Amino acid sequence: MTRVHRLCLIGFGNVGRAFARLLIKKADELSDRYGVVVAVTGITTGSHGGALNPGGIDLSAALALVEAGGSLDSLSAIDAPSDTADFIRACPADVVFETTPVNPHTGQPALDYITTALHAGMHVVTANKGPVVHGYQTLTELAKAQGRHFMFESAVMDGAPIFALFREPLVGANLIGFEGILNSCTNLLLGLMEEGQTLDEAVAYGRSIGITETDPSNDIDGWDAAVKVAALVTVLMGEPLTPQQVDRTGIRGITPQMIAEAKSAGERWKLVCTAERRPDGITARVAPQRVRPESPLYTVSGTSSFCQFRLDVLPGLGILESDPGPETTAYGLLADFLNILEVV
Ligand SMILES: NC(=O)c1ccc[n+]([C@@H]2O[C@H](COP(=O)([O-])OP(=O)(O)OC[C@H]3O[C@@H](n4cnc5c(N)ncnc54)[C@H](OP(=O)(O)O)[C@@H]3O)[C@@H](O)[C@H]2O)c1
Repeated sequence: MTRVHRLCLIGFGNVGRAFARLLIKKADELSDRYGVVVAVTGITTGSHGGALNPGGIDLSAALALVEAGGSLDSLSAIDAPSDTADFIRACPADVVFETTPVNPHTGQPALDYITTALHAGMHVVTANKGPVVHGYQTLTELAKAQGRHFMFESAVMDGAPIFALFREPLVGANLIGFEGILNSCTNLLLGLMEEGQTLDEAVAYGRSIGITETDPSNDIDGWDAAVKVAALVTVLMGEPLTPQQVDRTGIRGITPQMIAEAKSAGERWKLVCTAERRPDGITARVAPQRVRPESPLYTVSGTSSFCQFRLDVLPGLGILESDPGPETTAYGLLADFLNILEVV
């Protein structure tokens, strides 16, 4: 008899909804190719209500309700607690997918939600960088003690398999350092400035097409990039590092004149993320830099991201992710889920 895997979605924003659409789109493929059948038994949000249904929630109805600005409450078959931690405990699920907003400073409240889910015996998959940098070791140990998995592939470079790459294919290799462009928003803004816009004009345009947050300071001041650097160092280099420990400069100080000067020298400004293992410890930095055409960072345009890894056994291994979005992030969640199930 086919086993139905019960999923609980904490957060139903851009990523949570893209994941629901991916589950609908791939339902037949997952069943035919891997024998995997899923039922989403719980969905909860911050301000769009929540639904619990042990028999499975109608995902198309949930998408339509939330996209129309409505509440999920009407889809609940049983009482759904409004407190998120209580909701997790009440949800009859095998895997929790956590996609609430990132808190770069503490990782909360996602850290508590993930802890609650692991204590309740569920696997956890998150796209949220906050709990990775602020709780990687504790959450990994808790998951192990519970015989469950804590997975977070989407937290850095969306659907690109960075963490999975180091888990198995790069077994026996040691990461010495990396250099990359990990924040899509600032890369797009710097590109718009190269076309003649000021930073403010570029932010306004980014906001009008939905790329830039209402408050873009997380991106512009380099926090998002610093959290990603901290996550890569913590997980892949084995040294716990917080975003506050990353030497961080954003792109606020970049003027149209600086962009023009770089352009006339055949160079481009990029917000560059670096980390390096040195004899006295790891140095980690986010800062705008002028890059020359021969750098692999030079051609990374728009919202694409790139990371060049330096390993003891491979001098340079680059991963480029072109045009990521919530759909690619959703794929990272799905890949984590299928890896938990060990379908291959
Ligand atoms: N967007 C991307 O492509 C991308 C890429 C990689 C990683 N990520 C990460 O993925 C996560 C989600 O991103 P997103 O773009 O989907 O954000 P989003 O659109 O703002 O969605 C966040 C969701 O979380 C819900 N939420 C907020 N507080 C909650 C709480 N206390 N309990 C339960 N639900 C809560 C929100 O509900 P309401 O809307 O009702 O308040 C919303 O449904 C973030 O951590 C982000 O950093 C995103």
